[in-house]
Amino acid sequence: MDLENMTLPRHVAVILDGNGRWAARHGVPRAMGHKAGCETLEKIVEAVARMGLEYFTVYGFSTENWKRSEEEVGALMNLLRYYMGRIVRTANENNVRVRMIGEKSRFEQDIIEGIDRMEESTKNNTGLTFTVAINYGGRDEIVRAVRRVVRDYRENGLDVSNITEASFSEYLDTAGIPDPDLMIRTSGELRLSNYLLWQLAYAELYVTDCLWPDFNQEELEKAIAAYNQRERRFGGRK
Ligand code: IPE
Ligand code: IPE
Ligand code: MG
Repeated sequence: MDLENMTLPRHVAVILDGNGRWAARHGVPRAMGHKAGCETLEKIVEAVARMGLEYFTVYGFSTENWKRSEEEVGALMNLLRYYMGRIVRTANENNVRVRMIGEKSRFEQDIIEGIDRMEESTKNNTGLTFTVAINYGGRDEIVRAVRRVVRDYRENGLDVSNITEASFSEYLDTAGIPDPDLMIRTSGELRLSNYLLWQLAYAELYVTDCLWPDFNQEELEKAIAAYNQRERRFGGRK
């Protein structure tokens, strides 16, 4: 595919779904599907960095995913532990800055420290900003932002009528990151599953039946090509 003649979205957000279905299809335990999904993620982050994308955000674990079996949640936490170290290496080799969004305090202490290390050791990289949404829920993010706003306005005696969409955005986990232009969901489901509810207001949506562990650069380029066919409107008329 000829990416040179295409407009790259500035920010691509992904719901990486289908690890479980991939495992079922291959007759292996779900945890193996998640492991394959992590390997795909590593490759895609590298591809996206090389492509010159500015922002890439992936949904790795939702606030609702704690409802899964103890065994599956445990396997996901162990993959998180292992892949955070690998992501740091890939990020530093590719000038990628890594950032986490979501509610960190629910994780065990060593994972929290791993997240801090990942952000700290990549913070001076100037290429792609790779954001991982873990223990993330769009509604939870908005509620936490509201709490911060209320606290801030109370403590500083500010006038709430000054709150604007732009100023409120700065209280969200994604402060400083532009809204996604393109949202890709793998594995065919036509829903947002509580992902970036505020930020996706005007994103172009692209859903593929490809299961996340099978996703690759070619699939990504197909999504970008589809994005290039869209006429973005933002509610106005040309
Ligand atoms: C996505 O794969 C990864 C996470 C949600 C952690 P799933 O585990 O949701 O895969 P399916 O939807 O069961 O195929
Ligand atoms: C969304 O996928 C969450 C992540 C990809 C991390 P789910 O598989 O959890 O969502 P539903 O259950 O299909 O809505
Ligand atoms: Mg799923």
